[in-house]
Amino acid sequence: MTEVKDFLVDKSALRLNRFASADAIPGEGQALLRLDRFALTSNNVTYAAIGEQFGYWKFFPAPAPNGRVPVWGFADVVESKCADVAVGERIWGYYPIATHLVVTPMRVNTRGFVDGAAHRVSLPPVYNQYERVAADPAYRREHEGHIALFRPLFVTGFLIDDFLDESGFFGARRVMLSSASSKTALGLAKCLKDRAGVEVIGLTSARNAEFVRKIGYYDRVVSYERLGELPNDQPALLVDMAGDAPLIDALAHRLGDAFVYNCMVGGTHWETGARATEGPPRTLFFAPDRIMKRNKDWGADGFAARYATAWSGFLDSTAGWLKIIEKSGEEAVSDAWRALLDGQARPEEGYVLRV
Ligand SMILES: NC(=O)c1ccc[n+]([C@@H]2O[C@H](COP(=O)([O-])OP(=O)(O)OC[C@H]3O[C@@H](n4cnc5c(N)ncnc54)[C@H](OP(=O)(O)O)[C@@H]3O)[C@@H](O)[C@H]2O)c1
Repeated sequence: MTEVKDFLVDKSALRLNRFASADAIPGEGQALLRLDRFALTSNNVTYAAIGEQFGYWKFFPAPAPNGRVPVWGFADVVESKCADVAVGERIWGYYPIATHLVVTPMRVNTRGFVDGAAHRVSLPPVYNQYERVAADPAYRREHEGHIALFRPLFVTGFLIDDFLDESGFFGARRVMLSSASSKTALGLAKCLKDRAGVEVIGLTSARNAEFVRKIGYYDRVVSYERLGELPNDQPALLVDMAGDAPLIDALAHRLGDAFVYNCMVGGTHWETGARATEGPPRTLFFAPDRIMKRNKDWGADGFAARYATAWSGFLDSTAGWLKIIEKSGEEAVSDAWRALLDGQARPEEGYVLRV
């Protein structure tokens, strides 16, 4: 029997949280994984903020009123009653913020397995996939912090860039990114910059504007308070990471007919609430759907090859600005969670944690 520590968050009051202990005993066909390194960014806050609506609380259920927030990271198999999964294997995947997770490996192959736990069967398959790092030729232990932080975020930017290109940028000559300082936006901005051909505009808060300017991925940076400085003589689209309704309304006023498309990606400004009333209709971009589509179109190897090229260019470019903050323990986790909820985390930093 192993003692498991779980970070429990009140689903309707995300600032109320605590650690709880429970015992874990893997049953026949199951394995116990010890979560060793996971990233915590606004993406995880969004999972919690829209958890009820989009089902993110369903992956790792907890007794009401609590939920377990999903994160991406690396874990080691510490106990196994599954013939095909060995103790000592290191596994990349989707975990709760906790010390451990019991999984029920199914469809096991050389690359990894699917967690076949009954409550996960109907959830989007991308989140149920666990990968053996030993089977990934691109894996490097020294890059684990970068991978934990960026893999789910950079793939999103990579896929949005591809989607916009496929759609002829909806006629836009300019692409505006809200929460331009977020890691997802930075990844997308880098892809767009490498593609060239459209002007890439970062929209951000005054306190993060200098960082966003310096990083050099954007052609132009405008703070939320200065939207009057935005050019409106060419069609522009928004890739919205902030989910901030008053901001969208203000953009619609400034751009008028030049605002041609609103791609809804995130909700970093999670407490703003309210729905935008102006501008083009919001169209949801959901990375897991696009991953499935491009895996079909390009094949798994074609996808991996394209992604690897984009990723290596981005990874190199982070050397000039990214500071990974590696910490462990309950206090480190709750402090990071609070900083993210309050918008106090610095954009040049990335939390990589262990309970
Ligand atoms: N649709 C999809 O498939 C998909 C996939 C991946 C990510 N996403 C979404 O993309 C968004 C960005 O995620 P990320 O992990 O890249 O974010 P991140 O790097 O942690 O973003 C940090 C930035 O977000 C803004 N921010 C964060 N917390 C805030 C708060 N409490 N109040 C106000 N502003 C706050 C600030 O940017 P500014 O000052 O620049 O506003 C801050 O610099 C998330 O909402 C995530 O869920 C969606």
